[in-house]
Amino acid sequence: MSACVGSDLGRPDGPAKVSGRAVYVADLAVAGAWHGGAVRSTIAHGRVLRIERKPGFDWRRVVVVGPGDVPGDNVQELLSDDQPILAERVVRHVGEPLLLVAAPDLPTLEAALAALRPIVEPLPAELDFESATRVLHEVSIDKGDPGARFDSPPPGARLFEGTWRTDSQEQLYVEPQGCVAWPADADGTVVVRGSMQCPHYVRKALARCFGIAPERARVVQLTTGGGFGGKEEYPSVVACHAALLARAAGRPVRIVYDRHEDLLVTPKRHPSRVHHRTLVAADGTLLAMDVDVLLDGGAYTTLSPVVLSRACLHASGPYRCEHVAIRGRVVATNHVPSGAFRGFGAPQTCFAIERQMDRIARALDLHPFALRRHNALRLGDATATGQVLHDSVGSLAVLDAVAARTGIDRHRWCAPAMAVPSSNSGRVRGLGMSFFFHGAGFTGSGEELLKGRVAIRLLPDGRAEVAAGSTEIGQGTTTVFTAIAADALGCDPGDVVVAVPDTAAVPDSGPTVASRTCMVVGSVLASACRELAARIGGAAGDFRSRARAWLAAGGDGIVEHVYGSPPGLVWDQATYRGDAYPCYGWAADVAEVEVDLDTLEVDVVRLTTAVDVGKAIQPRLVEGQITGGALQAIGWAQCEVVSSRDGRVQQDRLATCIVPTTKDAPRFDVTIVEQPYAHGPFGAKGVGELPMDGGAPAVLAAIEDALGVPADRVPATPERLLALLEQRERTS
Ligand code: MOS
Repeated sequence: MSACVGSDLGRPDGPAKVSGRAVYVADLAVAGAWHGGAVRSTIAHGRVLRIERKPGFDWRRVVVVGPGDVPGDNVQELLSDDQPILAERVVRHVGEPLLLVAAPDLPTLEAALAALRPIVEPLPAELDFESATRVLHEVSIDKGDPGARFDSPPPGARLFEGTWRTDSQEQLYVEPQGCVAWPADADGTVVVRGSMQCPHYVRKALARCFGIAPERARVVQLTTGGGFGGKEEYPSVVACHAALLARAAGRPVRIVYDRHEDLLVTPKRHPSRVHHRTLVAADGTLLAMDVDVLLDGGAYTTLSPVVLSRACLHASGPYRCEHVAIRGRVVATNHVPSGAFRGFGAPQTCFAIERQMDRIARALDLHPFALRRHNALRLGDATATGQVLHDSVGSLAVLDAVAARTGIDRHRWCAPAMAVPSSNSGRVRGLGMSFFFHGAGFTGSGEELLKGRVAIRLLPDGRAEVAAGSTEIGQGTTTVFTAIAADALGCDPGDVVVAVPDTAAVPDSGPTVASRTCMVVGSVLASACRELAARIGGAAGDFRSRARAWLAAGGDGIVEHVYGSPPGLVWDQATYRGDAYPCYGWAADVAEVEVDLDTLEVDVVRLTTAVDVGKAIQPRLVEGQITGGALQAIGWAQCEVVSSRDGRVQQDRLATCIVPTTKDAPRFDVTIVEQPYAHGPFGAKGVGELPMDGGAPAVLAAIEDALGVPADRVPATPERLLALLEQRERTS
């Protein structure tokens, strides 16, 4: 039975959001709550000498918390222990917190923060990741013997090299970071409510910070205005700060960043430089690939090792190749720490391989579409880690779908150095394409180790409640869970409610990241629901009366299931061999751009995309994920600039932090391809991140087609395009 899966339900969270009734952290009424803030470093690297208190401020009006006031470890709990909650002797990036202050009102908080002046002796700052030497993490992937291939290539083979760069990107969720924390209650429990993707991550961070058992920290998600990865790890920082202040003040403390603070201090996408060496036969067959991936991790490790891992696992693209070497490094700099952002490293390496494929096609006089289709991974092929693709491979289907929609397979790209007179005003048009895949769920054995848990439980009125730590951050978790539960239980969507993610009341289904919520958590939910439905039985009557009868007869109305990997998955983390992901989503993009020859502004007028999602549980939401992700990719490709001066982010307000708006959006042409994944709920696989991966290479290929200059760096701003045109004039 599938009445809800595949048809569009109303969003259960929609009415409260559009009517303004939804409670975000800034709206939450908390009697007696104070406001919290941080004293931050204004320089990128330095030795903290002291913090001066300006005379004249009455310090009895506020509470001040320093590193010595952390009851547990002064460590921001994540993958490495290198980041303090409050810096003590050394600051490593602009905006690093040194002291916390809470005050009864915002003007007093502002006055107190202004009266505290850190005296910091500057140290040399590393601000260029390409020359940075401190390596935070490395990854190696090896398949076959690329060295031997490169050393003695077969007759007719050609070698191509390319260096591709991408800059950072700001998540720009609509609602800035924020939470409210309460001091420990009578049984010693610290409570935090806030805007976040991962309540159980925040709980873990609080436990470390306070030196308490995780159960003594209770974390509740409030309505959250977007995340995009930006609320994956950082809410733990805000939560620890607010909770430390609440402890010191003996009352609740709210921290809500304004946009300026949020833009200055929160993690963004890792900048990258990717170098490719590719050995190609005359017919375009990829013979050997050597890929070097370098990421800027910023001042602390945060999630960089896993971002690098995902970057490298996608670095050879969705292509067959017998001989592959991938070397990845993420290095430390004195920039604001880089962190999670939709795609998690894959957009960077996808950009590089896709532009490399265009370069190869051009040089071999092969059609870029044909080159991609010729080398595309197919059912039964093995990836760079040796993962044999057994099912749900929509590679050729998505390629053929965009060809059918656009005729890209017959498009004649402009000649390599076709001159476009720069004095010739007007608009020139170009087309570009990309082909990409994205591993859904945690990498390797991640899901097996995590063992995400979901419960379905009958309420006294006979409705069924979904209990999971997975969060609604705008992407549609509530609707997707409702549809899956309703169909797996055999009830109406109105018989299903989704519990608020509250670590004291829901099992840990794992973080809301990695395109895993629908595919992984949804599959656990579906299996729990099927067991509950079997228990209740299919007797006559509507679901609620049957459920009530079951409860009245003393039946157990709670089923909790744990994720189990599909059989046969094998991963070796030490050698990076095996099944890197449970499965992959596949997609192809075609971008059509118009470039204004006077301003060199790029207008993406149409974006055609075909995406294999396994099964669209909620087609309208899937389309929303696809167009939203593609628009973020288009912005990153050509108009979103994140730059820094002396380590300070320059785009520190909405006037300068530019992202595409609805008016800048192209016409989207979306084809949803459904190659079912046997272990996903109703065949579904992950779609959250995939649409972010392919937009940038397609747009830069289209710009190259329009202007005849090689676009090798994201974002392709007018300034950079002008430099490329001037360079061509000088050399022609
Ligand atoms: Mo994410 S970028 O896996 O929240």
